[in-house]
Amino acid sequence: MSDPNSTPVPRRKPWALTFLGLLTAAGLIAMPFLAGTPAPEKMPDAVRFIGRFHPVLLHLPIGVFALIVFQELAAMFRRRSEGEERASLVPLFFGAASAIVAVLAGFLLYQGGEEFVGSALVERHLWGGLAFAVAAVVTFLTKAWTLSTGGRPVFYRVLLFGSVGVMGFTSHDGASITHGENYLTEFAPVPVRKVLGLKPSEPKLKEPTAAPVAASVYAGVVAPILEQRCVQCHKEGKAKGKFRMDTYELLVKGGKEGPGLVPGKSAESNIIVRIDLPMDDEEHMPPEGKPDLTDGEVAILKWWIDNGADPAKVLADYVVPAPIQEAISKLVPPAKGGADASTSDPVPVGPDDALKAAVAGLAKEFPGALTFESQQSALLTFTAVSLRANLDDTIFQKLDPVIPHLVTVDLSATRITDQAVAKLAPAKNLKMIRLAETGITDAAMDTLLKIPSLESINLYGTKVTDAGVSKLSAMPNLKRLYLWQTAVSPEAIKALKEKLPGCEIIAGIEA
Ligand code: HEC
Repeated sequence: MSDPNSTPVPRRKPWALTFLGLLTAAGLIAMPFLAGTPAPEKMPDAVRFIGRFHPVLLHLPIGVFALIVFQELAAMFRRRSEGEERASLVPLFFGAASAIVAVLAGFLLYQGGEEFVGSALVERHLWGGLAFAVAAVVTFLTKAWTLSTGGRPVFYRVLLFGSVGVMGFTSHDGASITHGENYLTEFAPVPVRKVLGLKPSEPKLKEPTAAPVAASVYAGVVAPILEQRCVQCHKEGKAKGKFRMDTYELLVKGGKEGPGLVPGKSAESNIIVRIDLPMDDEEHMPPEGKPDLTDGEVAILKWWIDNGADPAKVLADYVVPAPIQEAISKLVPPAKGGADASTSDPVPVGPDDALKAAVAGLAKEFPGALTFESQQSALLTFTAVSLRANLDDTIFQKLDPVIPHLVTVDLSATRITDQAVAKLAPAKNLKMIRLAETGITDAAMDTLLKIPSLESINLYGTKVTDAGVSKLSAMPNLKRLYLWQTAVSPEAIKALKEKLPGCEIIAGIEA
């Protein structure tokens, strides 16, 4: 044991380590700026290949830092010998190094993933990861200095616990990206929810109550309509137009364009204005491709707003006109085992058993290629990345039964042709399609035109020409079009840009 009063052994100061560490930290922070906006199309496959290791690698720093924290807490109660103290630098070095590796892989994943572009959550996760890696490096350096100067480890401990805090926050964001938000807390018991400041778990609002006697009209009738038709795009973590509709307060508060509703005045209420727009108006809500409200639902919303949009009033507080009464009764999907299982035709909110069975059946044909967008979703993602040359038009036909449920489709580098694309015409939910490096031609554009929900089309390295691509100017929701390495001329791209001002065209040539 070393005696604290003995003259300290002079130790080398970790100047070189500090220099290297700070250089690494600066490099990490500069990385996103140097790389600029991700352009997944220009990324070689190697980027995606390495990026996919991010979910594996990230567990290393988490595990290592958990161990360090555990040891540090123990050291607060039992002083460590000098040798032990020095040895604790090793896991710290390994922790910081593995954090850097995990962050680098994550960065490549981000650079190569079209689906991540523009997501605020993903960006926050990226910066959180970088912050953690930098904090880990600084923590390591602080420990090295504490050891060499023989100082007290107070500052080091603050940094360590701070870094681990950042790590926890960032890991949670990461989990939200893969599993959807609220994954961890969805089934949390009430006391836990209280501590976390969450609202009480929503008792399946989706099914309007048969007799909204006790529930307010808002909770029993209005909220379920909004839940079915609107909330998927207007909620925490996915507030389109900065507008959330999942609570009464936020519904009234509105978004970028101002209040969501004006009590007493349905005609001046933004939600009604949007719902009443003609179907082919780009601003019509819900957007094209999503099931529209029924006349009855619209009538109920208007009636409720015109009568003050009170969040608390129950049905008995109103004099309900007959048509509204009827609309409300039609709304109500009969409670399970209820008496009249007649009229209504509820929109499937989650995947039903038939769809699940169909997807499970296709898993043999397309292992790992067909997945649900999220647990609560009836929408599917299809990616042929692992099938590549094994996928041709004949095999693709097997997807027929699930086509209407597809939301993203990646057929890059497969052997499919225009014929397979033609099968996608009924994919009314499709938002993103990648046809890069396939044998498709201009004829495929005629099919894509039939899918107005499309927001992103990738035609990288295909035989499309000016004639085909110019037709895409009629696509109402197109936000991104990849034409890198095609024969499309700069003039055609310029003309397209003029017709589609809201669409980013990635072509690799100046237009
Ligand atoms: C598929 C996703 C989606 C669904 C479903 C959806 N919206 Fe939207 N909503 C958007 C997008 C995207 C925007 C932003 C673009 C815009 O303003 O048109 C938006 C914007 C809005 C805005 C403007 C907010 C503001 O202040 O800028 C209102 C109001 C609105 N939606 C109402 C509704 C209503 C009411 C429903 C249900 C009947 C609904 N939305 C369903 C995607 C959706």
